[in-house]
Amino acid sequence: MEIQLNKLKEKILSDLEKVTDSSAWRDLEIKYLGRKGELTKILRSVADLGEAEKKNIGKLANNIKTEIVAKFAAVKNIILEKSVNQSFIDATLPGQEIDRGHLHPITQVQNELEDLFTSMGFMVIGGPELESDYYNFEALNIPKYHPARDMQDTFYIDQKNKAGEYDLVMRCHTSPVQIRAMQKYGAPLRCIAPGRAFRSEATDACHDHTFYQLEGLMIDKDISIANLIAIIKELLNGIFKKEIEIRIRPGYFPFVEPGIELDIKCTICNGKKCPACKNSGWLELLPAGLVHPNVLKAGGIDSKKYSGFAFGLGLTRLAMMKYGINDIRLFNSGDLRFLEQF
Ligand code: PHE
Repeated sequence: MEIQLNKLKEKILSDLEKVTDSSAWRDLEIKYLGRKGELTKILRSVADLGEAEKKNIGKLANNIKTEIVAKFAAVKNIILEKSVNQSFIDATLPGQEIDRGHLHPITQVQNELEDLFTSMGFMVIGGPELESDYYNFEALNIPKYHPARDMQDTFYIDQKNKAGEYDLVMRCHTSPVQIRAMQKYGAPLRCIAPGRAFRSEATDACHDHTFYQLEGLMIDKDISIANLIAIIKELLNGIFKKEIEIRIRPGYFPFVEPGIELDIKCTICNGKKCPACKNSGWLELLPAGLVHPNVLKAGGIDSKKYSGFAFGLGLTRLAMMKYGINDIRLFNSGDLRFLEQF
């Protein structure tokens, strides 16, 4: 038995020498020290020995077991240490850079304009994109069946009101916010309303069904076109960071009187005529005018006391001019090759 025990001990120790990973270590532990393990069996059989033998062999067996258990623990430690070393993480190394998104170019231009206008005492407001026929047209001096409704193709919502009329539209401009602002805040008033507008357009490089406008409204005593021009010049200098030449033409919009179209000298060819300005040297940027008395009335403002100007800046168009983008459809394309350039 003594020989048997010593032999087993040698075998276990030499097996342990060869162990390099924890699963092999666990197999050996089961093989020798498990419930049915070889060493366990021998230790158990010590009980069957005669008194004198039991004492000697028992002592030897226990010593061997203690030694073996200690060796197992030592080997386990070595394996663990090795695996920790292998997966060592140097927390001081620079990390992998995480890609960060950024604001959409239209949002960037919008933010710049908001800063500019708030610095001139304008407040920034919003309005619903799904509008009533009343705010989108009627209150803006465009009665039902008036030909001015055909100036743009509007998306009507396929849902009738109690009177059997289609009275909901996707707003075709940001101008309805003028009425909402007047009704809510009264005069005097300075506000801008940036946001989306929708038109049932056949899309091409210059037209999209969804685009951004920035409505401007200023109402006070003795407001004239001169105030409008001063504000617009401030806006252009802020955006283009250089003196921009403008020209003004008459323009018709039912909610202003007089109405104007404000053009800027083409930023791409500097007025020398190019395809971007349709060889005219000028770019249409901003329809505007003095608020029509009927519109002031719809907004609850006394047109004998107050006057005002309004403009409808094409935010999308302005972003195109600022960055030299030649296709409006890129903005809503979600194409990262385009968006990542800003
Ligand atoms: N709402 C007009 C449009 O979208 C633009 C406009 C706004 C014109 C304010 C005059 C005054 O076409």
